[in-house]
Amino acid sequence: MRFLVTAGPTRELIDPVRYISNRSSGKMGYAIAEVALEAGHEVILISGPVHLEPPRGAKLVSVSTSDEMFDAVHRDADSCDVCVLCAAVADYKPAKVSPVKIKKRAGNLSLELVPTRDILDSLGHRQHRQFLLVGFAAETNDVEQNAAQKLHAKNCDIMVANDARLGMESDENELMILFRDSEMRKISRAPKKNLARELVKIYSEFATKRLTKKM
Ligand code: CTP
Repeated sequence: MRFLVTAGPTRELIDPVRYISNRSSGKMGYAIAEVALEAGHEVILISGPVHLEPPRGAKLVSVSTSDEMFDAVHRDADSCDVCVLCAAVADYKPAKVSPVKIKKRAGNLSLELVPTRDILDSLGHRQHRQFLLVGFAAETNDVEQNAAQKLHAKNCDIMVANDARLGMESDENELMILFRDSEMRKISRAPKKNLARELVKIYSEFATKRLTKKM
């Protein structure tokens, strides 16, 4: 099978030397890419800026902004069987990018932010989508309810929920996996590589079932 995996944060430019970003390390996405390769799948890894070695054998597409990630994902999604959107895409970006460094002045400074495009939502609502679509939900409260709401709103097949406070920058996480038919599975706290193994198994089984149903 062919996997597309997004990983890491995005950077939304304020001016040539400043940006808005988040604490995502990219470890979960990179672990999924690595395990999928080990299982014999092809992998396109679309990554924001991280400090990780890309897994050998992956086709790496390096991006920085949410717009670049949006374009890269849309370029490759239709050629894949499974799309796993693990990246922590910024929800907002500055309304204007200053072409020169913004100078310090007396008093407060306000920055106008506008929403970025939601990549997962755009894939979920694509007509005649063939690939399995997996989202990740990073929550700090009401994890199951928030993740279920995202699963339906963004029209994906599987939503993997985690506690953002536990998972960000860490080597470990614990997961709740939600399916469209309201089934739910939990994986208790474990290294991200072990979690990735369980996830890739679930994705492959699910994608195979979808493919055989269509034949
Ligand atoms: N996502 C995306 N594009 C965005 C924002 C989020 O594709 N512009 C994807 C993420 O890659 C993830 C999923 O949406 O798979 C959920 O991301 P999350 O940040 O948890 O949810 P949001 O929809 O941004 O909601 P909120 O931040 O309010 O919880």
